[in-house]
Amino acid sequence: MPERLRPVGIVGLGTAAGEDLLTNSDLEKMVDTSDEWIRTRTGIGTRHISKPETATSDLAYRAAVEALADAGLTGADLDLIIVGTVTPDMPFPSTACLLQSRLGADHAAAFDLNAACSGFIYGLAAGRQFVATGMYDTVLVIGAETLSKITDYTDRSTCVLFGDGAGAAVLRPVGEGEGILSTVLGADGGGGELLMQPAGGSRRPATHETVDQRLHYIHMSGGDVFKFAVKVMGEAADAAVERAGLTRADVDVLVPHQANRRIIDAAAKRLGLPEDRVVINIGEFGNMSSASIPVALHEAVRSGRIKRGDVVVLVAFGAGLTWGSAAIRWSR
Ligand code: ACO
Repeated sequence: MPERLRPVGIVGLGTAAGEDLLTNSDLEKMVDTSDEWIRTRTGIGTRHISKPETATSDLAYRAAVEALADAGLTGADLDLIIVGTVTPDMPFPSTACLLQSRLGADHAAAFDLNAACSGFIYGLAAGRQFVATGMYDTVLVIGAETLSKITDYTDRSTCVLFGDGAGAAVLRPVGEGEGILSTVLGADGGGGELLMQPAGGSRRPATHETVDQRLHYIHMSGGDVFKFAVKVMGEAADAAVERAGLTRADVDVLVPHQANRRIIDAAAKRLGLPEDRVVINIGEFGNMSSASIPVALHEAVRSGRIKRGDVVVLVAFGAGLTWGSAAIRWSR
C-alpha cells in the first residue's frame, strides 16, 4: 500500500490519578520537612497516590477508556498502543500489552517506551509518524506512572515531589494545517546518572543488598537536574515553535512538564510568556513524570482554556537525560 504523509491530531483525551491524596502535612509527619518549604521550593501542595493494589496499567486503563469515549471510539478501533512509563507493572510483558488485552484492542500492536518525564512527547512523536505515513489510522498514546512505588519516603529531597497518574490521547488524521505541526526530541545520555533507579535491571539485579541499600528507589541530583531543566525547556519549546514555522507571539498556551513551579516560571520567563498562557497544575498533582503533560493538557481543554485553532506548545525534560516538545494547532 502506498504511504503518504497526512496531518495528525489529538481527537480524544482522558486522565486518571492515584486514589489517595498525600498532603504536605502528611509528609511533615514522615520526614523532616514543612509545608512552607515544599510550597516555596516546589509549588506543590498535594499529590495523588495510588493504592497498594493499583498498578500503572490500572491508571492507564482508566485514562484510555475516557480518551476513547471522548473520541467516540472503542478499543476495537485501535491500530497501535504506545505507553510511556518508567514504572511499568513489571519488566515484561509491556504495560501496553496488558492494556491492549483489557481494552479489547484485538488488532492493535502495542509497546512501551522509556523516556521518563519526556515519555508522552516521545510517544506523541512516534505515534504521529505511524498515522502520518498511513501505516495506521488510530493510535493511543499514554503517559502513565505510579512513581509512589519507587519513591523513597525517607528521602525528603525526592519524596515531596512525586505523584501518580495517567493521561491518554487518541491520534487520528485531521484537516490540512491542523493538529501536530512539529515535534522535537533530544537526549544526553551523559547526564544519565543525575536521575536514576540504580538497581533492578541487568547492571544491578535485585538482591537483598540492593534492597537494603534502597537502590530500587529514585535517586536524583536535584540541583543539577534543575539547571538542565530550565535551559532545555526554553530551548526545546523555541525549537518546536520554529520548526512549525511560527514565532513565540503565535503561542496561545504552553503546557510544560510539571516538575517544579520554579522551573516552569523560569522557562516561561525565558520564553517571554505571561503566566496566563502557561498551564500549571503541579500544586495539586506534583510531578507525575510522563503523565504530567497529558493530564495538564486535558485539564486545559476541559476548562475551555484551549480552543480550536489555538497554538499549543508542549515541552518536557526527564531522566535519560531526555527532552521533547511539540507545537499543535488544536483541531477540535
Ligand atoms: N524539606 C526541607 N528541606 C529540604 C527538603 C525538604 N523536602 N529537601 C531538601 N531540603 C534541604 C536540603 O537538604 C538542603 O539543605 P542543606 O542546605 O542543609 O543541605 C536545602 O534544603 C536546599 O537543598 P537544595 O537541593 O539546594 O534545594 P533546591 O532549592 O534545589 O530544591 C528540589 C530541591 C526541589 C529537588 C529542586 O532541586 C528540583 O526541583 N530539582 C529538579 C527536580 C526535577 O525536576 N526532577 C525531575 C524528576 S522527573 C523524572 O524523570 C522521574
